[in-house]
Amino acid sequence: MALFKKNEQNAEFSVLPEHIGIIMDGNGRWAKKRGLPRTAGHKAGAEVFKKISKECARLEIKEVTFYAFSTENWKRPKEEVKAIMTLFHDYLIEAKNDMEASGNIIVKFIGERRGIAPELLKLMDDAERETSKRNGTLINVAVNYGGRQEIVAAVNRLFSLGKTEITEDDISRNIYTSPECDLIIRPSGEERLSNFLLWQAAYSEFWYSDVLWPDFSEKDLHNALSDFEKRNRRFGG
Ligand code: FPP
Repeated sequence: MALFKKNEQNAEFSVLPEHIGIIMDGNGRWAKKRGLPRTAGHKAGAEVFKKISKECARLEIKEVTFYAFSTENWKRPKEEVKAIMTLFHDYLIEAKNDMEASGNIIVKFIGERRGIAPELLKLMDDAERETSKRNGTLINVAVNYGGRQEIVAAVNRLFSLGKTEITEDDISRNIYTSPECDLIIRPSGEERLSNFLLWQAAYSEFWYSDVLWPDFSEKDLHNALSDFEKRNRRFGG
């Protein structure tokens, strides 16, 4: 199994991760530091999501999974949840006009569809359909996502197909993303997984930074990739 991608087009890195997971954390603290409402942090975070997606596509990373809204985030104050959902909605409307500019990006939403407003679901489906025929970087946006929820959904799907005994390969084939995540990036100083890509993280390399997500730059991504290049991955061997 090829876990590394030799980067031939780009002389910047000798090896690149095939699949990166990014926990977009620190929006609230970023806003607070500036005396702004938390929603201003999420808005700034959405711009960084766009910038980093484009940079990953430029670098020809195969797959990137962004943690946007967890199954636990519904516990936040109602107004904040509403503001984040409105942000996703407005972002997707705006992205429709920007589709040409991001021609090498394929979008997929991962997570539990139940609980998401129908108008937002329609925009999510449209974005997936409109980008599905493209070649390029697969951007998974995790919305109403939890790593445990993902594994349970995979098992239930296998049961519904009549499976009575389940193997690791079965689960690997029925989770939302590819089964391995090579590198997980978490900014904002927190060093935990928070129910993100639990199955895929079995042999992930982790990269943390104190930078808050709205301040995260292409340079930070490059630093993470440079560190990744130097890691000695043994996969238990
Ligand atoms: C975590 O920061 C961030 C969220 C729960 C929301 C993430 C959403 C975005 C970055 C917008 C993404 C937009 C698109 C279009 C995909 P936090 O609020 O937990 O920050 P804190 O830890 O500083 O309070």
